[in-house]
Amino acid sequence: MKLSGKVAIVTGGGGGMAAGISTALAEEGCDIALLDINPEEAEKVAVAARALGRKSMVVGCDVTRHLDVQAAIGKVYDQFGHVDILVNNAGYGQYILVKDMTEEMWDRMIAVHLKGTFSCTKAVIDKMIVQGSGRIINISSVSGMMGAPTHSHYAAAKAGMIGFTKGLAKELAAHQITVNAVAPGIVETPFIGRMNQDLKEKVIASTLLGRLGRPRDIAAVVAFLATEDAGFITGQVISPNGGLLI
Ligand SMILES: NC(=O)c1ccc[n+]([C@@H]2O[C@H](COP(=O)([O-])OP(=O)(O)OC[C@H]3O[C@@H](n4cnc5c(N)ncnc54)[C@H](O)[C@@H]3O)[C@@H](O)[C@H]2O)c1
Repeated sequence: MKLSGKVAIVTGGGGGMAAGISTALAEEGCDIALLDINPEEAEKVAVAARALGRKSMVVGCDVTRHLDVQAAIGKVYDQFGHVDILVNNAGYGQYILVKDMTEEMWDRMIAVHLKGTFSCTKAVIDKMIVQGSGRIINISSVSGMMGAPTHSHYAAAKAGMIGFTKGLAKELAAHQITVNAVAPGIVETPFIGRMNQDLKEKVIASTLLGRLGRPRDIAAVVAFLATEDAGFITGQVISPNGGLLI
């Protein structure tokens, strides 16, 4: 096991991707803290990590609320004593043309993905600097690299996460903290529940490997980035997308 004794925070911890990521990290020996606005769903993911023999905890938290995030991550430090890996994964999709988008829709999208990533990062980096180690993994999207009609606000937020990843990687490299973005293609989770069948079929037809992604496809990349084996990788965008974008 490559992550024995490590502690990871996964935001959006009750979601489909988080379930895969949490399991992959737990299988490598990592204890897991899940932050989610919907703690009931996250509890199911925590139970799965415990079934693998790991410790796990859930903290209810809206990542857009900066002070709540600091308090939630404070509880993780109280429980586990240290945090080695932060996976900024909380998010949601919304399909709407810019001409119909309201200011509230725009603000919420940017707040959850971009401000949430900032706030969670702020809550761990001082202690990671003291530790002289850490892994920050930001879940972006192919949309942040190629754009997509009907979710330009989402694409803007995910592109912003890539810029943040690169800047932060430059700031933290001297402390042996790596910062990377994972930009998945379309993955079968509740997130794509509102995507219509026609669009799903178009995505599959445009994907070289001829299928949607599975949470495990993304989780394997995240788990690798969390290990010592990935210690020379920082500031990168790794895109498990089945050949949707090459
Ligand atoms: N599924 C895909 O096709 C896909 C593709 C690329 C990127 N992503 C990204 O992967 C991440 C995880 O998505 P998923 O597919 O697991 O979706 P999901 O809907 O299954 O899970 C998202 C989780 O985030 C939580 N969440 C939403 N807003 C929150 C907030 N303000 N504070 C705390 N938690 C919040 C939700 O409660 C949910 O548990 C998201 O950032 C998403 O943008 C998904």
